[in-house]
Formats: sequence, C-alpha cells, structure tokens
Amino acid sequence: MDEGTPFSRDIPTTELYESIIQEEIVGRLEYAAERQWFAVVTGDCGTGKTTTIRRFSEILDTAKFKVLYLADSKLTPRNFYKGLLDQLGCESKFYRGDAKRQLHREIELMRGIHRLQPIVVVDEAHLLSREMLEE
Ligand SMILES: Nc1ncnc2c1ncn2[C@@H]1O[C@H](COP(=O)(O)OP(=O)(O)OP(=O)(O)O)[C@@H](O)[C@H]1O
Ligand SMILES: [Mg+2]
Repeated sequence: MDEGTPFSRDIPTTELYESIIQEEIVGRLEYAAERQWFAVVTGDCGTGKTTTIRRFSEILDTAKFKVLYLADSKLTPRNFYKGLLDQLGCESKFYRGDAKRQLHREIELMRGIHRLQPIVVVDEAHLLSREMLEE
C-alpha cells in the first residue's frame, strides 16, 4: 500500500511527524495571534518553518481568525497591500497610500462586522528590504 512520501512539501498537516518543538511553536503563535502581536519564526533552511506555519493556520478557529499568507522575498509595500487585499476579495487601489487606507478599512470592517481578527503571515521575509520591514 502506498503510504505517501513522509516528508513531501505538500504533506497534509494531519500527517506530519509530531514533534514537541513544533507543537510548542504552534502554541506560541496562537498566543501571539490571540493578542494580535508580532511574532518572528527563525530557523535553518528546511527545518520546517513553512510547514509549522501551515499547521498553525489550520488549527486556528476560522470563526475568529482570517489568515492572510504572503511568501515573496522581493515583496514591496505596494504588493504587500495588494496581496492582502486580493485575499480579502478586494481589488487594490493603484497607489500605495490608497491601498494602505483601503486595507485598514477592510480590516476594520472584518473586525467590526464579522468579528474576525486578521493574521498576516509573511513567509520568506529574511530578504525583505528595510523599507518593506518598516512598512
Ligand atoms: N513535522 C513534519 N513532518 C513531516 N514533514 C515535515 C515536517 N516538517 C517539515 N517537513 C517537511 O520538510 C520539508 C522542509 O520543510 P519546510 O519547507 O517547512 O522548511 P522551511 O524551514 O520553511 O524551509 P526554508 O528555509 O527553505 O523555507 C518539507 O518537505 C516539509 O513537508
Ligand atoms: Mg519555508
């Protein structure tokens, strides 16, 4: 019987090797999510950062949180807003300042009307420019 490849990139998160460290990180991220904090996950290449984030996204209560995921080491502020707005089903305004205000408004609506907290994940963020990080 084909059991699948144990460490493949698209492994369902229910079939992951369960490590205490991974559960600890997921727990800490949940703690940060509840408080709408910033959190940084670091680790050597291929040690499971993206997979852990994937698992974290799947255990979150979808009635409370909306996960927005970006993975682009060349992310610019304009694409940051555009990427998030796209995932919220909105067509982004062209100018960065407008898109930023638009995103703030959408998040306020999401919080106010649907009682949903946004969780923004920026994967591959180690190469982001200083300008992007400050944004
Ligand atoms: N708990 C796990 N059980 C099974 N496979 C895993 C587990 N954690 C990671 N993997 C597998 O290991 C590989 C590397 O994991 P992942 O891509 O999450 O690492 P990463 O830290 O994000 O790497 P990079 O630094 O290149 O972004 C993937 O194929 C992933 O499916
Ligand atoms: Mg990764």
